[in-house]
Amino acid sequence: MTADPRFDPVIDRRGSDCVKWDMMEKLYGVPCDSGLAMWVADMDFRPPQGVLDAVREQLDHGIIGYYGDDSDYRAAICWWMKERHGWAVDPAAIFTTHGLVNGTALCVDTWSAPGDGIVLFTPVYHAFAKVINGNGRRVIECEMPFDGDRYTLDFEAFDKVVEADGGAKMMILCSPHNPNGRVWTRAELEGFAAFAKRHDLILVSDEIHHDLVYPGHTHIPMAHIDGIEDRLVMMTATTKTFNIAGSHSGNVIVHDEKLRADFAARMLGLGMSPNSFGLFMAKAAYSPEGAAWLDGLIAYLDGNRKLFDAGINEIPGLKSVPLEATYLSWVDFTGTGMTREEFTRRTEQDAKIAANHGPTFGKGGESFLRFNIATPRANVEAAVERMQAAFGDLQ
Ligand SMILES: Cc1ncc(COP(=O)(O)O)c(C=O)c1O
Repeated sequence: MTADPRFDPVIDRRGSDCVKWDMMEKLYGVPCDSGLAMWVADMDFRPPQGVLDAVREQLDHGIIGYYGDDSDYRAAICWWMKERHGWAVDPAAIFTTHGLVNGTALCVDTWSAPGDGIVLFTPVYHAFAKVINGNGRRVIECEMPFDGDRYTLDFEAFDKVVEADGGAKMMILCSPHNPNGRVWTRAELEGFAAFAKRHDLILVSDEIHHDLVYPGHTHIPMAHIDGIEDRLVMMTATTKTFNIAGSHSGNVIVHDEKLRADFAARMLGLGMSPNSFGLFMAKAAYSPEGAAWLDGLIAYLDGNRKLFDAGINEIPGLKSVPLEATYLSWVDFTGTGMTREEFTRRTEQDAKIAANHGPTFGKGGESFLRFNIATPRANVEAAVERMQAAFGDLQ
């Protein structure tokens, strides 16, 4: 397993007003001084040096004014999508939002009305449901089958759910998927596309995790699936890839002219324009230096996932679902026969680990916890030891 001086150092984030470490006591009852924060999806690593330098350059100049011509920024996005994903993006199709939760909210607001249904494939990233409910729309949950090892899709069952509801206007796809770690195959993406067409849905594809894919798997942008151009909205960001979530910046990419006009009108109506720091950071990140850093990160995370899975799967009754992408390990406690309260209590109070609770991800998440493994190897080792001790009586 590779170790890497860029990712091995443990940087103490406590007391830095970060949500992950500084809020875990309040939210999970896990003490800040001795606990391990393995919940919210940001990493305990510094971004590439060029990204930090880009911010420092602005600070050294000292005047933080409005951003001007953004053509270099758009060009950097187009370069990255072509270089890393083989995807040709029209610079004019890019809208910059305050992150992708905000991007999701804007999509919901633009292409649905209060009371409409929005389809989610659960268990899935919890903020989708929050945004849908917060906008007075309804979540339609299509629960993905899980065979104890891997998640699959059952479009016949999903059709029935949507037909029974009768009010669906949009679907939000998570690709790659958080939290089940799947990289959807071409056949599966074609299945999602056909589903959107059958039910006449706007298809919003959140691809924020598209750069964090492990060897042996290839992410296919939804934009590469034919026949859905007139209903497709793509969402990407630098923030997960380069660990700059605090920049609250994301891209909604809309190639269809009619949809683009709808979205532009909504952005205008809400008076939205980007934060300049997000643009500076994105320009620096989407570069050859950023690409080399990312390759190193993936190798490191690959080592973490192997270590974590091996250690967790040694505990009888626990199953860490194999990750094809993302740094969010989805652990099933069904085999322990314990109540949710009991396995959560052992994780939080005995192991002193803050991990996301499965039910927040919707139907199918009841017996799970989600562990963020994007942390120095030493923390992953400690997490495995603590979990083995907390569930030691099952050995
Ligand atoms: C699928 C998905 N979309 C969006 C986000 C968050 O996006 P942002 O921080 O840009 O609002 C996350 C964070 O975990 C995520 O997993």
